[in-house]
Amino acid sequence: MKRNEIESNTKISIIPEPVKIISEKGIFTFNKKTVILTDLKLKEIAELLKQLLAQATGLNLDIEYLVHIEEKDNAVTLRITDNVKSLKHEGYNLKISQNGIGISALTPTGIFYGIQTLRHLFPPEMESLSQEKLEWSIPCAIIEDFPRFPWRGFMLDEARHFFGKGVVKKILDLMAFLKLNIFHWHLTDDQGWRIEIKKYPLLTEIGSKRKGTYLTRRTKKLDGIPITGFYYQEDLRDIITYANERFISIIPEIDVPGHTTAALASYPELSCTGGPFDVSPNFGIHQDVFCVGKEKTYDFVQDIFDEVMKIFPFEIIHAGGDEVPKRRWKKCIDCQKRIQKEGLETEENLQTYFTNRIVDYLISYNHRLMGWNEILDENLAKNAICQYWTHNFDKVLEHLRMGRNVVMSEMSALYLNYPYNLLPLRKTYMYDPIPNELEQKFYNQILGLEACLWTEYIPNKKRLEWHTFPRLIAVAEIGWTLKIKIDFQSFLKRLDYFLKRLDFHEINYASKDDFEKEDIKS
Ligand code: ACM
Ligand code: ZN
Repeated sequence: MKRNEIESNTKISIIPEPVKIISEKGIFTFNKKTVILTDLKLKEIAELLKQLLAQATGLNLDIEYLVHIEEKDNAVTLRITDNVKSLKHEGYNLKISQNGIGISALTPTGIFYGIQTLRHLFPPEMESLSQEKLEWSIPCAIIEDFPRFPWRGFMLDEARHFFGKGVVKKILDLMAFLKLNIFHWHLTDDQGWRIEIKKYPLLTEIGSKRKGTYLTRRTKKLDGIPITGFYYQEDLRDIITYANERFISIIPEIDVPGHTTAALASYPELSCTGGPFDVSPNFGIHQDVFCVGKEKTYDFVQDIFDEVMKIFPFEIIHAGGDEVPKRRWKKCIDCQKRIQKEGLETEENLQTYFTNRIVDYLISYNHRLMGWNEILDENLAKNAICQYWTHNFDKVLEHLRMGRNVVMSEMSALYLNYPYNLLPLRKTYMYDPIPNELEQKFYNQILGLEACLWTEYIPNKKRLEWHTFPRLIAVAEIGWTLKIKIDFQSFLKRLDYFLKRLDFHEINYASKDDFEKEDIKS
């Protein structure tokens, strides 16, 4: 190809949209002689870049490690420097000239995000893993960038259906590409327990297996499709390393004291009634929850969090707390005794008592609890983080004003399990995690946003991808891009180009036809 033909094939189409792009004349061409220039602090990232380019382009670039980095022709220079302090922890500066490429940032995270932006400047064919072409060109530009929110997450429910390591790693790859940085892993629920706990082997021996799922709740007929699977601790460590290499923190969720039927099927003595229970074949709210009157429930929960904290290095652990019916507690001698002994007034207070005990336990190991917004209460420990999904938004506002941190997962915008006719792409894209009612001085209390994929009705990878993409791409943009640059038409154009990249990854995203048609309908 002639140089000017190549030039017309290069374009700037980045998701999430950066803070500032100055488009310059010309192109930079990678060839066999291009080198990666950096210092040893960035060894892993330099190797990741090398690997990325090698896989995609067939170019096997040399890496040169220098103590004092000086820019050189035909090089990609990666540099940590205080000069870009204003771009903060995750920001970066990316300069592409005809002579070379420079990425500078205050931290390795920033450098990593600069590299992700660089990937978006290659033509989509770069994502194909079988390229023979040895010259690749990208447009010249100067890009300055940093995120709007520090928390840009995606939650996957593997309790209702189990997808496994390969699917999770692919999601992590795409999250990194889109600068999403939190993977929230919903690992336990009524329908399955998916994490090995060495002290309580029955949790996986019994709790990870359900015979099937009710075809309808009324007839209670099983579909005959057993759902099984769990992660050994070794698998989890492997996935955590994979995520860390991509600057993604994993936050595990052990949902307690409700949504615990799989645990109760394994250890029925932790319930108020004694059971017995089956790993649940149906969805919705279950009346049997942990008995929080008995001290042995606290021992059990602490033992589990002990193992969880040893596996997951991230300082925040999710303890669920959503949808906890109080019917059993009202009739349970142990629960009622606990209410009396602790001077509590209601069963709601009892849930707060239970949550605070976990908070205290986690704090003693320098960890922080996160829970769904049902945990909110005036007596809830101050450092517990609230994940908002539905109802009682006024209470969330009240807590924000009292200094609590909140992550927004507003169900009507960020629950990707809804079909597109109920939750069109536009609605997700136009969602602002900062509510109108909130005074500016509290904005920083909102850490960011998280899209959730509940998988009751998502039995396989194909369906998972259809629900997730392209809506997660919109979530990545609203989590990163400044509000003044949020523009749905611009996003759609860039999305079109990005979806070509996903074609090379064979992702079963919802087609434009699907989401646009349904967008009009809604
Ligand atoms: C939830 O959707 N139950 C948090
Ligand atoms: Zn009880």
